[in-house]
Amino acid sequence: MPNRLTRRQTLAALGAALGAPALLGRAGPAFAQGARPQLVMPPLLEGALAEGRRVYDLAVAAGETEFFPGEKTATIGLNQSYLGPILKVRKGDAVRMNVANGLGEPMTLHWHGLNLPAATDGGPHQVIAPASTWSPEFEMRERAGTYWYHGHMMHRTGAHVWAGMAGMIRVEDAEADAVPLPSTHGEDDFTLVLQDRRFTRDFQMPYELSMHDAMAGIAGDTALVNGLIAPFMEVPAGRIRLRLLNGSNASFYNLRFSDGRRFWQVASDGGLLPAPVELAEAILAPGERAEIVVDCDDGAAVSLLADVFSAEVRMMGGRGTADFLELRPTGAARAAGAMPDKLLDLPEPEASATTRRFVLEMGGMGMGRGMMGGGFAINGKAMDPQRIDEVVPVNTTETWVIENPTPMFHPFHIHNTQFRILDRSGQKPGPHEAGLKDTVVVAPGESVSVQVRFADFTDPDRPYMYHCHILEHEDGGMMGQFTVV
Ligand code: C2O
Ligand code: CU
Ligand code: CU
Repeated sequence: MPNRLTRRQTLAALGAALGAPALLGRAGPAFAQGARPQLVMPPLLEGALAEGRRVYDLAVAAGETEFFPGEKTATIGLNQSYLGPILKVRKGDAVRMNVANGLGEPMTLHWHGLNLPAATDGGPHQVIAPASTWSPEFEMRERAGTYWYHGHMMHRTGAHVWAGMAGMIRVEDAEADAVPLPSTHGEDDFTLVLQDRRFTRDFQMPYELSMHDAMAGIAGDTALVNGLIAPFMEVPAGRIRLRLLNGSNASFYNLRFSDGRRFWQVASDGGLLPAPVELAEAILAPGERAEIVVDCDDGAAVSLLADVFSAEVRMMGGRGTADFLELRPTGAARAAGAMPDKLLDLPEPEASATTRRFVLEMGGMGMGRGMMGGGFAINGKAMDPQRIDEVVPVNTTETWVIENPTPMFHPFHIHNTQFRILDRSGQKPGPHEAGLKDTVVVAPGESVSVQVRFADFTDPDRPYMYHCHILEHEDGGMMGQFTVV
């Protein structure tokens, strides 16, 4: 058994880290654990060069995946049966994505975290009809970091992502190349999609929501890394870097190592932090990324664990501890040396005179306004693709205030930007939240202010989205639309 914190300590840590008082709740079931398969990294796609562009081909199709030996599970994947390749892109590259929809139903594919023209964003308005190919072209503007792509079809995001329609984007640039951190993909730098899934007795994972799933989001008791159940990975006996995505529909992961060893968070959603932040635990909400660096120079095997919580952590408590990944160091020990004390220069964020408020809302169990969607709304309005909620002037700094009067945690995501967190209910964010973000957790009763700026790409007709990244909340209506003009 891993040396785990008591649930009380974990809840206190979760509450403290999120700036909310923790309350105790019921214990959840433990996570399943069997013989570990060996981790496989998704293929790295560098794109074929054509007319000065990098062209990436992504073929989306339904397929079957063998999560359990000898058992086939119906899934969706891109160029493979579950999840998709890692797209490697350099900042400044001109790219074309060829997304071929072989699913037999309409879908979209969204580039999460990227600043790009609204027509190429891949949100609910860029529908790809069955048997057709969508080929957006844009420039990679983001800094080196870990971004991702996933389905975003109106009312179907939860179902598509649950089945496997997601993958990672690894962005590199000269600024990050110069920072002395492990960065050789597949050798000392690993890209990992963390998810949890629920399987039926016949090894299927149907997207069937109970009343409770519709309110709190769908979750499971089986931990997946890159589509493999709780695998192991051989790593060099030295310093390694893990690029982590919480790719779950609705689960919050409080990440830590089984022997309590400390690690450094070096990047958040939009790339490197100003400085490494030494931590014993890190909370990753649905949609968020963290890059962490950990020393394995003692040669001892160690597991990456997560205490798993649903959005209603304060009512229900933890759902158990997932043993995601065992690291097995091999080879001669390499002394790790000192960590760099600075990673990136970022200006101090500043509040602006222009303020927009976003109040997150949900009906109670069965007493919601829009009964169908559980009463999920923002500023009193459930998502309506025909309605533009906010019109934002281009290249203007604004303060967006996200208020959460509901009893659940909501990870609020804004398309087309990497923003800065100004404060959590008046408190300065912790150093692990001092970098660029596109998704921010808002705790019950909390009000989070962020600085946003949309520097380019006006389009009066095509909106971008902001929404809760608990996909059942998003699909249920906790989403709105803005244009940049
Ligand atoms: Cu990752 Cu609008 O989503
Ligand atoms: Cu997004
Ligand atoms: Cu939510």
